[in-house]
Amino acid sequence: MVDQRIVLALKFLLLVLFFESTFEQQQQERLTSTIERAALLGLRSSLGLRSRDWPIKVDPCSVWNGIKCENGSVSEINISGFERTRIGSQNPQFRVDSLVNLTRLKSFNASGFYLPGSIPGWFGQRLVSLQALDLSSCLISNAIPGSLGNLTGLTGLYLHGNNFTGMIPSSLGQLVGLSVLDLSSNMLTGSIPVSFGSLQNLTTLDLSMNFLFGSVPPGIGMLSKLQYLNLSSNDLTSSIPAQLGDLSNLVDLDLSFNSLSGSLPAELRGLRNLQRMLIGVNLFGGSLPVNLFPVPSQLQTVVLKSNGFSGAVPDVLWSMPRLRLLDISGNNFTGMLSNASLNTNTTIAELNASQNLFYGDLTPLLRRFSFVDLSGNYFKGRVPDYVSDNASLVSNCLRNFSNQRSLLDCTSFYTEKGLILDGFGLPNSTQPPAREDSGKSNRKVIILASVSGGFVLILLLVILIVLLLFCIRKTGNATQKGVGVDPATPVPSGSSLPPPGVSFDFSSLGDIYTYQQLLLATSDFSDVNLIKYGHSGDLYKGISESGIPVVIKKIDLQSHRKEAYLLELDFFSKVSNPRLVPLLGHCLEKENEKFLIYKHMPNGDLSTSLYRKTNSEDGLKSLDWITRLKIAIGAAEGLSYLHHECTPPIVHRDVQASSILLDDKFEVRLGSLSEVCTQEGDTQHSRITRLLRLPQ
Ligand SMILES: *[C@@H]1O[C@H](CO)[C@@H](O)[C@H](O)[C@H]1NC(C)=O
Ligand SMILES: *[C@@H]1O[C@H](CO)[C@@H](O)[C@H](O)[C@H]1NC(C)=O
Ligand SMILES: *[C@@H]1O[C@H](CO)[C@@H](O)[C@H](O)[C@H]1NC(C)=O
Ligand SMILES: *[C@@H]1O[C@H](CO)[C@@H](O)[C@H](O)[C@H]1NC(C)=O
Ligand SMILES: *[C@@H]1O[C@H](CO)[C@@H](O)[C@H](O)[C@H]1NC(C)=O
Ligand SMILES: *[C@@H]1O[C@H](CO)[C@@H](O)[C@H](O)[C@H]1NC(C)=O
Ligand SMILES: *[C@@H]1O[C@H](CO)[C@@H](O)[C@H](O)[C@H]1NC(C)=O
Ligand SMILES: *[C@@H]1O[C@H](CO)[C@@H](O)[C@H](O)[C@H]1NC(C)=O
Ligand SMILES: *[C@@H]1O[C@H](CO)[C@@H](O)[C@H](O)[C@H]1NC(C)=O
Ligand SMILES: *[C@@H]1O[C@H](CO)[C@@H](O)[C@H](O)[C@H]1NC(C)=O
Ligand SMILES: *[C@@H]1O[C@H](CO)[C@@H](O)[C@H](O)[C@H]1NC(C)=O
Ligand SMILES: *[C@@H]1O[C@H](CO)[C@@H](O)[C@H](O)[C@H]1NC(C)=O
Repeated sequence: MVDQRIVLALKFLLLVLFFESTFEQQQQERLTSTIERAALLGLRSSLGLRSRDWPIKVDPCSVWNGIKCENGSVSEINISGFERTRIGSQNPQFRVDSLVNLTRLKSFNASGFYLPGSIPGWFGQRLVSLQALDLSSCLISNAIPGSLGNLTGLTGLYLHGNNFTGMIPSSLGQLVGLSVLDLSSNMLTGSIPVSFGSLQNLTTLDLSMNFLFGSVPPGIGMLSKLQYLNLSSNDLTSSIPAQLGDLSNLVDLDLSFNSLSGSLPAELRGLRNLQRMLIGVNLFGGSLPVNLFPVPSQLQTVVLKSNGFSGAVPDVLWSMPRLRLLDISGNNFTGMLSNASLNTNTTIAELNASQNLFYGDLTPLLRRFSFVDLSGNYFKGRVPDYVSDNASLVSNCLRNFSNQRSLLDCTSFYTEKGLILDGFGLPNSTQPPAREDSGKSNRKVIILASVSGGFVLILLLVILIVLLLFCIRKTGNATQKGVGVDPATPVPSGSSLPPPGVSFDFSSLGDIYTYQQLLLATSDFSDVNLIKYGHSGDLYKGISESGIPVVIKKIDLQSHRKEAYLLELDFFSKVSNPRLVPLLGHCLEKENEKFLIYKHMPNGDLSTSLYRKTNSEDGLKSLDWITRLKIAIGAAEGLSYLHHECTPPIVHRDVQASSILLDDKFEVRLGSLSEVCTQEGDTQHSRITRLLRLPQ
């Protein structure tokens, strides 16, 4: 019994001793080489290190801060964060000559420790066992010595935050074992060495914040292990090489703040693991390839701001599941927000789409963003509840919202797109931009004249009708004179009829025709089909695809007033009455030519009908007096509608025999509606304003 106990106790003791001794051995590894000890002491004095960090009388391997040893030799030195003695800091210099005698040194870290001067050339020749060299933020200047390319054991080279000048030595391309290369925040110039293409083990390449120029070498695309590529804040030019799409392990791509141009290669779709794509503030252009982004995508941050991108944003970008920040501001992106309801929860994502050409309504797509900046676009309609309160929406075309674009701005944008701006909320404070002053007074005179002459002329109209009635009784012969149903004019004030109830509705503007359809309908606008050159546009007859005869007004914006067709569209969108010529559609796709398509009136207009002889060659008959009366009443009804039933009242301004069109039953359809104006109308702008104003 006793024996066994003693044996057990002894065994236990032995065990304890064994562990103790191995533990001691590791902790108390001693610096055996006297050369290395001398070298460390040399380093201590040349750098002016304090006794607190490196106390002089004890063993460096076991006691000194930042020293690690292996097999009695120094393997790591870390003086990062050290302070120099008072004397040492008086004249700090890059004096590390003693390092040459530390032949087994694997890692030297002086990050943040000031070493003013240049990296000694012998570094590359003598510190051959070095694996990690960290000289970041050491105030080092001058060129990076090419001899560093001899340190083929290096896996990490950190030289960022210094004052290195000159070019990046291409010999660094020999460091094939390198996994991290950080040369950022220096003053390096020249181009990125092509030799970098052979750094096959590289995971991190940071060359940001330098003065590098030239293009991104396609060879970078061969660095298949690369996860972090930061080339931002340089002067790099030309386009992104398609080969970059081969970096399937890349997580961060930062090319911001350069002068890169061209469009993005669709090959970037190969960046399957990309989480951050930062390419803002460059000169990129073109539209984004539809399949630019991989599906599924890991992307969290996409910054494309301040480039020249145009076209639509691929739908997939809005619905990326991990998206946190999408900044596409300051481009020429256009299109409407997708209306697809996303099945992603409200996230903390941010959207900045400001300063683009987006238009249309705000959609539930915005639900997923907790912060939204859509300023400087052409969004219209009401602001839905789900758009957060701190959203920035200024300078759009939104309804009942402050600081929006001017009406003219919005209308012409939408009209050029062939769309109609509905629900425009006029800002109640901003004044409409002043029109050209010269034209203003001129127009005022014209309008004043027509208003004052109005009462006289309406009297004339009444007299004419009475005269016509007389004539019917007196003689059966048709007068050969045109009936001068002339400028009809305003109505007595005080008409308080409700608005006609026509809201600003695109559908009342008929169909959208393509330019091709119009070419077909009119045989390429051949002269044979020309009806007449009008002051608001040239009229052509044509046959629509469905075989219906139509009249097409061709408005050349260079020779005709631009507002006229806008006004007419506005007019038709608000007003509809059987006494007005029916608008069948429009075609606004051409930049300089706009087209309005009306129903063809088989019996022409009053002037031609009056002069027509019975049994003329076109088979149409001259007017009998019953018809003439019908026409007079019809014209009066049409004008009465404009004057009394529209709010504000509308003045035709171009009533003459040729504006009174006659349908197949000789019912009057008023035409020449491009000259309409409101009674109170004084300036061009307020005319448009009134015409567009919605019922409150
Ligand atoms: C230490 O030296 C021994 C023999 O020289 C060798 O076997 C061992 O690998 C060395 N250890 C290290 C960490 O270099
Ligand atoms: C050098 O030391 C700093 C701490 O001061 C550390 O952040 C850095 O990663 C170290 N460098 C290397 C290569 O280990
Ligand atoms: C280097 O030394 C500093 C300061 O003593 C310390 O904070 C840092 O962690 C060390 N770095 C390494 C990689 O040992
Ligand atoms: C390195 O060690 C050798 C031999 O001890 C010595 O002569 C030489 O001066 C040392 N070099 C430096 C830079 O300390
Ligand atoms: C070290 O690099 C320099 C310059 O790159 C070169 O001339 C020299 O031959 C290299 N030495 C060794 C030992 O590789
Ligand atoms: C970097 O070098 C330039 C010129 O050599 C000098 O003007 C500048 O002060 C230096 N910057 C730092 C941080 O040392
Ligand atoms: C690259 O890294 C791997 C693993 O990290 C290593 O086995 C290989 O030797 C390295 N290649 C070079 C050329 O150093
Ligand atoms: C790239 O470098 C710049 C400057 O050094 C830095 O501001 C930026 O955050 C870096 N990009 C990424 C994705 O880390
Ligand atoms: C957008 O396009 C217009 C006209 O083509 C151009 O003048 C403008 O510079 C472009 N904006 C941007 C940010 O590229
Ligand atoms: C939304 O969040 C709820 C609760 O956190 C979760 O159950 C649901 O799966 C989420 N839906 C989606 C589409 O992420
Ligand atoms: C989006 O969908 C809703 C409901 O389906 C519809 O009311 C709305 O008009 C649509 N908006 C757009 C811009 O298509
Ligand atoms: C418009 O008028 C309303 C009510 O008077 C006011 O609350 C709103 O702030 C005004 N909007 C602008 C853009 O001035």
